[in-house]
Amino acid sequence: MINQDGKLALQHLVTMETLSNEEVMALVENAQEYKKTNPSAQSLKEEFVANMFFESSTRTHKSFEVAERRLGYKVVDFDASTSSVNKGETLYDTVLTMSAIGIDVCVIRHPQDSYYEELIASPTIKSSIVNGGDGSGQHPSQCLLDLMTIYEEFGHFDGLKIAIAGDLSHSRVAKSNMIMLKRLGAELYFIAPDEWHTDEFDEYGKHVQLDDVIEELDVLMLLRVQHERHHGSEEFSEAKYNKEFGLTHERYDRLKDTAIIMHPAPVNRGVEIDDDLVESPKSRIVEQMTNGVYVRMAILDAIMNYRNQQKLDEENK
Ligand code: CP
Repeated sequence: MINQDGKLALQHLVTMETLSNEEVMALVENAQEYKKTNPSAQSLKEEFVANMFFESSTRTHKSFEVAERRLGYKVVDFDASTSSVNKGETLYDTVLTMSAIGIDVCVIRHPQDSYYEELIASPTIKSSIVNGGDGSGQHPSQCLLDLMTIYEEFGHFDGLKIAIAGDLSHSRVAKSNMIMLKRLGAELYFIAPDEWHTDEFDEYGKHVQLDDVIEELDVLMLLRVQHERHHGSEEFSEAKYNKEFGLTHERYDRLKDTAIIMHPAPVNRGVEIDDDLVESPKSRIVEQMTNGVYVRMAILDAIMNYRNQQKLDEENK
């Protein structure tokens, strides 16, 4: 929702499809503004933000923390391994506790798909929920930083040929990105072994071989092979995967001069992409990580705009 002051205001951010194109572009443009002005850390604000990561993370967790500190919010870290989760407390009761003690925003990563549904439906939980990744569901802040990186490069999405390659079925990045990129006018290709490509991708783009499209691509978005989600599947050959689906030097040279390579990271170097190509001229992998801070500042802004409006409305009742 764009509020009376023309600012984007969001109660929660849990999936991409709940955002309009206008809201997505408002977030991307606000993130670009933060990148351009690079404001120094702001004076301490009264709101508390808790980062609750029930799955491992470096980029999402730490760039949310940098964004929160740069905006001046009070950061509350939460370590699931020393929390009452160990005594059997549910996610619902953990977030209910956070809300009761005055946490304004909970940034949550959790292995359960759509974990956020019961949280945002609760009339008792007052905290805003920002999804830092749900199982194999969605990863909205990663999607927004990916959109920012593409928009910075091309200035539009319309007609761009974008391939998403790799562990599609386990990838929350692929699922968030395919929804938004198609809606913003990109032409999508999916590249994956048959067992990682499911029918849900057919609605968004074509299942192709990398070698059949590589010369045409504007963006090659590689995905991490998520070994931790491959319970009981066949033995995986890194060399075979790299040969068939990876970005090798030979394929790098076939990309257009203007094409860019993306990867949400962490990268399995030598598997999804040859080691030294991670920091090659066509790679935007490091830029994606940098953009993550600015996008997360923009997300927090939008959430706090909503909460501040709510406070004003309460006061004026
Ligand atoms: N891209 C991403 O989500 O990385 P982390 O798992 O390190 O947060």
